[in-house]
Amino acid sequence: MPMIETTTTGGDVPPVPEAAASLPGHGRTVCVTGAGGFIASWLVKRLLQKGYTVRGTVRNPVDPKNDHLRALEGAAERLVLVRADLLDPESLVAAFQGCEGVFHAASPVTDDPEKMIEPAIRGTRYVLSAAADMGIKRVVFTSTIGTVYMNPYRDADKPVDDTCWSDLDYCKKTANWYCYAKTVAEQAAWELAEQRGVSLLVVNPVLVLGPLLQPTVNASAEHVMKYLTGSAKTYANAAQAYVHVRDVAEAHVRVYERPTARGRYICAEGTTLHRGELCRVLAKLFPEYPVPTECKDRVNPPVKGYRFTNQRLKDLGMEFVPVLQSIYETVRSLQEKGLLPVLPTTTNNNDNNLLLS
Ligand SMILES: NC(=O)c1ccc[n+]([C@@H]2O[C@H](COP(=O)([O-])OP(=O)(O)OC[C@H]3O[C@@H](n4cnc5c(N)ncnc54)[C@H](OP(=O)(O)O)[C@@H]3O)[C@@H](O)[C@H]2O)c1
Repeated sequence: MPMIETTTTGGDVPPVPEAAASLPGHGRTVCVTGAGGFIASWLVKRLLQKGYTVRGTVRNPVDPKNDHLRALEGAAERLVLVRADLLDPESLVAAFQGCEGVFHAASPVTDDPEKMIEPAIRGTRYVLSAAADMGIKRVVFTSTIGTVYMNPYRDADKPVDDTCWSDLDYCKKTANWYCYAKTVAEQAAWELAEQRGVSLLVVNPVLVLGPLLQPTVNASAEHVMKYLTGSAKTYANAAQAYVHVRDVAEAHVRVYERPTARGRYICAEGTTLHRGELCRVLAKLFPEYPVPTECKDRVNPPVKGYRFTNQRLKDLGMEFVPVLQSIYETVRSLQEKGLLPVLPTTTNNNDNNLLLS
């Protein structure tokens, strides 16, 4: 078995204050794969807030790009970063040792089949097998709405729910390799969980926005950023639902902690926005940026987004941050991190008027 390479920020472990001892996660150790990523960083933050001891897997524990994790409240006492790669099963076994649960968030996020397919599918198989080998009873897998709705044969009048599955041939035909790989990965996770007696919970988020904790731009932040930098001259004829990253982290923890939780949980705020609407919101909130005003597709009518239900998470008490707030916080965060230049503005439109209306 390989040595676990670890880094922590603290020296001696300080005594646990009485209040911390009453937190639900106190004395419980869980592992988060791909801890330095956009969603996983918020998940680690939430788990630490709830008193858990967290083992976060990263590919390089000493890389300064993971410093934001070490700066989280509670990290000095209760976060350990361990080296693991999805394609190295032994590293996963070592990382899961002594954990009661695993949150599997690590995955490439790309439509490049060379980069996507193998780590997503084989990596997820390795994670489930390693979890079973280490006697872990509960695994939460970060899937995506992309495993749910990509199916031209489903009844368009019915809202998409947790019983829907994307059609693999359709994903292939349309070169949606991200959706293809995540669908196969999620199906493999269900199969292995059944075979090996692991309790699996799946969260299927739509496109995730909100402030970044990590220092670099991830794919879903880029979805907004490209409309502000001038790199996108037009917008696509497409529609999309969104969810705040804090809600995604919360959903993971809720399904983990609820003993009666079962199956798949679509994680989305209720609104679907056409890209044109997204661009209009951005232009109103941040008029100083060159936001596109024209659709690339001048022939077809605007695509309507799919309808879906987020009832299963609402039944667990979840309330969702409004989509305009998520968009606003994403841009502010990109500015604050120096990832998007702050441009002079003559108007004061980027106050909260639009968010309050
Ligand atoms: N963001 C969204 O809109 C969205 C929506 C639905 C579902 N999801 C799912 O949420 C999860 C996290 O996505 P994210 O947006 O937070 O992406 P992200 O910021 O790119 O994070 C992905 C993480 O996966 C790690 N990773 C990639 N390949 C790996 C490998 N071979 N071995 C170990 N770690 C590996 C990356 O590590 P490095 O830092 O070392 O590269 C990174 O920490 C993914 O499973 C994604 O499919 C995301």
